[in-house]
Amino acid sequence: MTEPLTTSPALVPLTVRGDDRGSLIAIEGGRDIPFEIARVYYIFDTAPGVVRGLHAHYTLDQWLVCVNGHCIVTLDDGHIRRDVLMSQANVALPVGHMIWHEMRDFAPGTVLMVLASEHYREADYIRDYNAFLSAIRTR
Ligand code: TYD
Repeated sequence: MTEPLTTSPALVPLTVRGDDRGSLIAIEGGRDIPFEIARVYYIFDTAPGVVRGLHAHYTLDQWLVCVNGHCIVTLDDGHIRRDVLMSQANVALPVGHMIWHEMRDFAPGTVLMVLASEHYREADYIRDYNAFLSAIRTR
């Protein structure tokens, strides 16, 4: 069960392996992240003014990393809505299942990488906000 937004930490620090050449971050499924990574996708070249996401998932858990640029991610558990500025490549934002999420205000050049616990499955999406609220109430 996804923890309530009030008690869950927003951003999780990622270990940076830096040396005089620069920085490197490795994220291993089941080690640095609490699930095996089934899928990686990334959002880039986002057109100005676009809002992405606008859905929740029944079972999928995801971690978001803004590897370049910045954007705002809104999380909503049906009770509390929280905006998180993502602007650092060395932190991840967990987005558990049954969390409504929206991404907006992408700066030019922003790359938002998503690590996902399951393969893509359209039936796992809740794309209607009222249906999301109903699903929350019946859990
Ligand atoms: P969409 O769910 O609209 O993206 P977002 O939630 O970020 O607004 O996905 C855009 C398209 O890409 C849509 O046709 C579904 C497809 N898609 C995949 O095929 N695999 C994936 O892993 C994802 C996330 C999307």
